[in-house]
Amino acid sequence: MPHTLRDVLPASARLRPDGHLEIGGCDTVDLAEEFGTPLFVMCEQTFRERARAYLEAYPDADVYYAGKAFLCVAMARMVAEEGLGLDVSSGGELHTALAAEFPPDRIVFHGNNKRDDELAMAIDKGVGRIVADSLEELERINGLAAEAGARACVLLRVTPGVEAHTHEYIQTGQEDSKFGMSIEGGAALEAVKLSRDLANIDVAGFHAHIGSNITGVEAFLKTIEILVEFCAAAREQAGYVVRELNLGGGLGIAYTRGDFAARVDHFAAEARAKLEEEVTRHGLPVPRLAVEPGRWLVANSTLTLYRVGVVKDIPGVRTYVAVDGGMSDNIRPALYGARYEALLANRADAPAERAVTIAGSHCEQGDVLIRDIPLPAGVKRGDLLAILATGAYGYSMASNYNRFPRPAVIAVRDGKARTLIRRETYEDLVARDV
Ligand code: LLP
Repeated sequence: MPHTLRDVLPASARLRPDGHLEIGGCDTVDLAEEFGTPLFVMCEQTFRERARAYLEAYPDADVYYAGKAFLCVAMARMVAEEGLGLDVSSGGELHTALAAEFPPDRIVFHGNNKRDDELAMAIDKGVGRIVADSLEELERINGLAAEAGARACVLLRVTPGVEAHTHEYIQTGQEDSKFGMSIEGGAALEAVKLSRDLANIDVAGFHAHIGSNITGVEAFLKTIEILVEFCAAAREQAGYVVRELNLGGGLGIAYTRGDFAARVDHFAAEARAKLEEEVTRHGLPVPRLAVEPGRWLVANSTLTLYRVGVVKDIPGVRTYVAVDGGMSDNIRPALYGARYEALLANRADAPAERAVTIAGSHCEQGDVLIRDIPLPAGVKRGDLLAILATGAYGYSMASNYNRFPRPAVIAVRDGKARTLIRRETYEDLVARDV
């Protein structure tokens, strides 16, 4: 296995003497036999180690796992076991967390357009933080909390006007965003003032999320600067003293061998130093920090196993290697132009010497998972292909396009495999059709 893939692969990845790729003590060739393909294989140890690394880096902050990256009942349980909080962004994610008996007070609830029934559920279940995304929503939360005879603990989502260097679709901190209330435009301060008159709201602090898969720390430091300046304005102009600052998620990972993953310990140390510097400058008390990593915690824990089917060599053009999944289990290449690494899991020791294109099985030409990736010569039907670092926004964005049943997700650890989500069947596909 190329050493340069070390940061991309799960921590437990090994090359077995027979040339097979092993994860969590399990032979991937056996896993594919037993569970079928396509198959998401999560190395539980990698996720847990990464969760611990985050907690260690932020010993005095709240770390919420962003469930949008990947969530199911078993995952919510692992998140709870590791002592993280959970960020949910829909009624469905909240329901999943509650089904896993995730402690509601450790949940933060997001969304730019939450429905009344979703908010009522959050209030009724005692969700720890509701992130108000607009002035209108703030008043609606107040009204719903009053009806429930409760006081909702709220964070105000603000847009700091910072442009992070990432794909446009996953940038969120800039002024022109459907999320949050603008600091620059005054809506954020208006929300602080408004909340003074809302008896069923307790504003714990502010929230900002500037984007996703960011590897440089500068945009985060700039965000802290702007947020603290806003805290000072909130105190001066509304007499409000912030208790909590949530910096959102967004740390980048290594998808390919050329990528450098963000170092969470460096990020945390720099963020902490910057926060202290800024609050001192403005004479404010140090607020409690919160962060919401998704991708960084889960992406590299997981790979997807596919069975190779048709290999089509178009002389002078390219060789298409078709696998038994595609854009329905990983939309990221088609949607964001995302790049991935792959290797042959049944011949992981063979040198990769010939560039091929990995195509999915869907009815459209754009269904390409990886363009021009070197694989061992003689890739053939029946080979097992592993695409790496698919743990974040892979399954969670999966669809039934072309009525493909969604794959199973399994977790491996110490030579044992357990199912987290079972594979959909053809019967599942028609079960809700009326
Ligand atoms: N907090 C908030 C409020 C968010 O909106 C997000 C991601 C996160 C935390 C977690 O961000 P992370 O640490 O995972 O970067 N589907 C896209 C990513 C969209 C991210 C949306 N929000 C992708 O596949 O790249």
